[in-house]
Amino acid sequence: MRRLLPFLLAVPFLVLTAPARAATLPDFDRGITLHPLVQQAMDVAVPGVSAPTPAISPAAAPETVWISILTQDVTALGEEFNFPERKPAGQNGVLSVYELRAAELDRLGDIMQRKFRRSPGFFAHSSLRSAQQDFTLPPLAAAAAYTIDQGEKVSTMLQLVDESSITGMISTLSAYKTRYYRSVTGIAAPKWLYGYWTQLAAGRPDISVATFRHSAFPQESVILTVTGAVEPEKVIVIGGHIDCTSGGADNPAPGADDNASGIAVTNEVLRVLIASGYRPAQTLKFMAFAAEEAGLRGSAEIAAAFKKQGVAVQGMLNLDMANFKGSAQDINFVTDNTNSDQNAFLGKLVDIYTPYTWATFKCGYGCSDHASWTKNGYPASLPFESKMEEYNPAIHTANDTLEQMGGRATHAVKFAKLAVAYMVELAK
Ligand code: BES
Ligand code: ZN
Repeated sequence: MRRLLPFLLAVPFLVLTAPARAATLPDFDRGITLHPLVQQAMDVAVPGVSAPTPAISPAAAPETVWISILTQDVTALGEEFNFPERKPAGQNGVLSVYELRAAELDRLGDIMQRKFRRSPGFFAHSSLRSAQQDFTLPPLAAAAAYTIDQGEKVSTMLQLVDESSITGMISTLSAYKTRYYRSVTGIAAPKWLYGYWTQLAAGRPDISVATFRHSAFPQESVILTVTGAVEPEKVIVIGGHIDCTSGGADNPAPGADDNASGIAVTNEVLRVLIASGYRPAQTLKFMAFAAEEAGLRGSAEIAAAFKKQGVAVQGMLNLDMANFKGSAQDINFVTDNTNSDQNAFLGKLVDIYTPYTWATFKCGYGCSDHASWTKNGYPASLPFESKMEEYNPAIHTANDTLEQMGGRATHAVKFAKLAVAYMVELAK
């Protein structure tokens, strides 16, 4: 509560002066000048200017974060995480906002994972203001025109989707001891992907690669941009999280399904794009998000920066867990915190372009990076490997390996085909 008062006093000042002072926006986490969000947004907007930076020492990270968490989870946890001793910074029947020390964030994540088998999710925010925004509904996403008329191009490109390049990427990423967002190897993995994508894009002047540096933690996100040939201001985002966890920086966490598989599918769409010489009319951004497992922190910062800049995101496809076939249907669309029109469009793409089956289910909370985009008013979807309760039981453990999934990527291939069709039918 001690920290709340200066914040509340500062609010009118902030509102009145925000546009002029954007670059030196005060950071209420630490009471000192923030790594400016605006600068990061510019790093992303100017193609190719930001090379991977030397890692910021994890010890230098800000001490305070705010979480938004379901009130029912606070009640269920009770004394297990000293919630009763804490005063929420905001609360209603659905959602609660609490101030936490950054060190406590990991502990809460671990407790939630133990208690609910898988952590039922909470959002971490670097400011109270951002946490409080969770109380308001996202603005209505602008409807994209969903038409399906690129049959020839889609069919040709679908034939290029290759299982072995997907297994290759899953093997490479799951060979890191962990991709935990505050670990040395977790910092190295996105830097490696930045280099890999840079090489892949050689010879395509319309493609650039950048890293997105986050203000509060050392793991970077990676963003590859294919500039649209006709309507470059319209942007389509395809990606997933590159981090993983089995509870801390020291535990082995291969994260093969969660979520090397999603990055491998993202990479396969990009590989097919380049192999086929495809040039989209609209701009495509392929993203590998940092720190999803820490509360959607990487995507939250990026999506908020895009909204602040007024980037016209037409659609976001989140690829998170694609290689474990746990349910009868092949592709399972999450219906909450996603856009129903875009989900229907994706279902049609499956019907028209593939022999696969699909179904829908609810996560029950903002379970992955699509929620960050939805929250900022953009149409987002998550095609998932199974229904809830039937997903890969090895995630968030040392057993989340490619071997545990039979050493193959047959399931992930289906998601790559869907994502290729989505890209071609939307970016036209
Ligand atoms: N890949 C999972 C999300 C997931 C798991 C969705 C199982 C559906 C079924 C994701 O990486 C994850 O673990 N998310 C967290 C929530 C996040 C806000 C920290 C989770 O579900 O515990
Ligand atoms: Zn995941």
